[in-house]
Amino acid sequence: MHAICFVGQIIGIISIFAALLFVIAKLISFHCRSPVEDGYGYAVLITGCDSGFGHQLALCLDQKGFVVFAGCLSPEGAGAQSLMRRSSSNLKILKLDVTSDEDVQQAKRMVQNNLPAKGLWAVVNNAGISDWGEIEWSTFNDFRNMVDINLFGCIRTSIAFLPLVRAAKGRMVYVSSIFAFFNCLNMGAYSVSKRGLEAFADCLRVEMASFGVKVSIIQPGNFGQATSILKMKSTSDIWEKLDDESKRVFNRQYIELANEYFIMSCKSGFKGAEMVISAMLHAVTAAQPKTRYLLVSAMDRFFFQLIPFFPTAVTDAVLSLSSMYAKRKEMLYSK
Ligand SMILES: NC(=O)c1ccc[n+]([C@@H]2O[C@H](COP(=O)([O-])OP(=O)(O)OC[C@H]3O[C@@H](n4cnc5c(N)ncnc54)[C@H](OP(=O)(O)O)[C@@H]3O)[C@@H](O)[C@H]2O)c1
Repeated sequence: MHAICFVGQIIGIISIFAALLFVIAKLISFHCRSPVEDGYGYAVLITGCDSGFGHQLALCLDQKGFVVFAGCLSPEGAGAQSLMRRSSSNLKILKLDVTSDEDVQQAKRMVQNNLPAKGLWAVVNNAGISDWGEIEWSTFNDFRNMVDINLFGCIRTSIAFLPLVRAAKGRMVYVSSIFAFFNCLNMGAYSVSKRGLEAFADCLRVEMASFGVKVSIIQPGNFGQATSILKMKSTSDIWEKLDDESKRVFNRQYIELANEYFIMSCKSGFKGAEMVISAMLHAVTAAQPKTRYLLVSAMDRFFFQLIPFFPTAVTDAVLSLSSMYAKRKEMLYSK
């Protein structure tokens, strides 16, 4: 009899405990529920929507019910026009060259005058360009142009729109790259711009935490075939830009080889942008967005996750093991 009572008590205690756990879990999930599971009443601004990730994200967020302000470099161009055709009337195309103060201020006025009830929830700083070439093949203007768009363009846009996002306790999203932390041949100017961008986003995250604004960094690997980012150039395009000294050091055969290598590595990348778009969506809509989204193949993930923790001497040594690095060393100064 005693034993039966004891078992009954245990079952009762376990049931009460399970019910309590259920209620606590419900309370936690309620508190973690994103305020924007559907986007109705909220707006998002995305830069660089003429093509690529920005274009695709704009369509996705439009379908989710957000008012999308799609910043386009060329509002009359084919990309912006196709976006307009494929979206609802909630999507508005804005002329937005992120290097222009005037465009950014004009875009801000347009956003403020057309804000839905719940305000500006997120800014996705996506606009960007890419180029490749050794530092000694580049001019100061090559660096300036890259940094003007990829870094200062994001800073200019962020400063203008932060008060609106702060008011909504929303999200700031920055599209960086693995080249923000992965140092390799030919990506000097791009790396400078993306590393600077991450420093900006990291500092902003610390400052915005007390306002309830969350800041996320998207780090795509090789998605060159999934967007319009790659602008191919010929060996002659590079060669003609070099001065006599650089021609002597990096002979034409090496530049030919470097160009072939670049084209080949681009072909090995992802063919679709789905992984990047779902990370961007998560950063914009999830209750607990990540601070960083590393978007590389499962095979590369381990390597890229470890890189930032290795001593510089080790990462430099690993990179110098690549066959391209060895060929380059042999070919420099050769006739
Ligand atoms: N694709 C990849 O493999 C990859 C990898 C890592 C990071 N990313 C980053 O992802 C972001 C989006 O690039 P994407 O791959 O989607 O390439 P994309 O198709 O070329 O898209 C970039 C967009 O930015 C626009 N843009 C260029 N200069 C601008 C300016 N001054 N102001 C406003 N918009 C400007 C481009 O307009 P136009 O089309 O008129 O030039 C284009 O619509 C970039 O920040 C890029 O660095 C891409």
